[in-house]
Amino acid sequence: ATSRRILDILRIGQPGETVTVRGWVRTKRDQKEFSFVEINDGSSMAGLQAVVNADLPDGAETLKRANTGASVELSGTLVESPAKGQRIELKAESITVFGEADAETYPLQKKRHSFEFLRDIAHLRSRTNTLGAVFRVRNTCANAVHQFFQERGFLWVHTPLITASDCEGAGELFTVTGLDLEKPPRTKEGTVDFSQDFFGKRAYLTVSGQLEAEIMAMAFTDVYTFGPTFRAENSNTSRHLAEFWMIEPEMAFCDLNGNMDLAEAFLKYVFQAVLEQCPEDMEFFNKRIDKTVLETAQSIIENEFERITYTDAVKILEKTDKSFEFPVSWGIDLQSEHERYLAEEYFKKPLIVTDYPADIKAFYMRMNDDGKTVRAMDVLAPRIGEIIGGSQREEREDVLERRIEAVGLPKESLWWYLELRKYGTVEHAGFGLGFERLIQFMTGMQNIRDVIPFPRTPQNAEF
Ligand code: 4AD
Ligand code: MG
Repeated sequence: ATSRRILDILRIGQPGETVTVRGWVRTKRDQKEFSFVEINDGSSMAGLQAVVNADLPDGAETLKRANTGASVELSGTLVESPAKGQRIELKAESITVFGEADAETYPLQKKRHSFEFLRDIAHLRSRTNTLGAVFRVRNTCANAVHQFFQERGFLWVHTPLITASDCEGAGELFTVTGLDLEKPPRTKEGTVDFSQDFFGKRAYLTVSGQLEAEIMAMAFTDVYTFGPTFRAENSNTSRHLAEFWMIEPEMAFCDLNGNMDLAEAFLKYVFQAVLEQCPEDMEFFNKRIDKTVLETAQSIIENEFERITYTDAVKILEKTDKSFEFPVSWGIDLQSEHERYLAEEYFKKPLIVTDYPADIKAFYMRMNDDGKTVRAMDVLAPRIGEIIGGSQREEREDVLERRIEAVGLPKESLWWYLELRKYGTVEHAGFGLGFERLIQFMTGMQNIRDVIPFPRTPQNAEF
């Protein structure tokens, strides 16, 4: 018989069916004449319980080898389970052990492990309940992202990872070098000539696919990217990674209001999809990780997000009795403590803050008539703070050119970006959603390192 996924058996398996399953032993409880073996194949939170008789051919010997962590195959008949909390179990007629796991050394014995400990064994931690649930939710969520945009006629565009431009202008670029560092080219002064980095040019890992997405939006109207981005910021927080995944829609013939509407509809859609498709995993997070997970998800779906300007947000922050580590005044970049206060305590739901001071935002955002603020928007979420950053883009060639000069960017290297404003320019807007921050928000996981299989941080890039 071909093997079946455990999720499928738990959902629709019927007593009397013969099945074969493969997976890893989670627990084994020995009784006198038989053992309970629970196996998990990653398809669901719950494993399948099997009753394995010691008098099967080689039964006793094989059972000795089927310890926690071992890879096994079980065949037998499904029977109604007399145990509480499970509908069905397997009465095994054969058991095979593919690979043993030594009970003395296998790190994932049945007990609670700290997330710090699990991060050190990133090659094994996906076999735990929590990380298993996280990565199933991550998968469902990624699928929902594509569904959302595809249903609306957006084209998925693939933007380069190696690039010459610093989209955010924050100087957080990783350099890519094709230099032979044993025999590097030298400048006249004798230092390494890094301008020769990438076949004669400087090259970096991308911090955002936005600028290229804008190019594509000027041909396909509505596009989105979904790919890895890199930031060489040495921030050691629970919300920053050096390598993270970003989703960036970009829409032509669209202003900031359309952009906000899309961001809100998008978040509602993916929350709904995950609640529907991962109910057990979401229950688990609500019970074991954060008691507000389900309530938060429901409130995202049901309530309109608050929308306020930066100037009004600053007024609220200035008026509150709450003391912040970082003092508030018009012109500051909102810190995570401010963002969280607004979302968690003041509005108690996500909010969209718009029209930030130009000085603290990137060069490409559309200048408002006041000459001081830009058509920026950040979506701030309870627990997380900034989850989305976006804007209406500056589509006027002369204004953009002046802005590039004012912030001191090399105009020559952005000639193509300016040319988009010369030929068929139109108002357009887009945003970037940090995928890991979304998963954190959804699952209640405290640390961003625990929602991506292999986190890249200043401390952690083992493999
Ligand atoms: O606000 P950011 O820097 O915006 C951009 O990159 C724009 N070019 C997006 C656009 O308009 N197309 O980043 C967008 C989002 C943030 O709101 C945050 O969720 C996430 O990316 N993010 C990070 N996530 C994890 N680790 C980091 N170091 C992150 N930096 C940003
Ligand atoms: Mg931002």
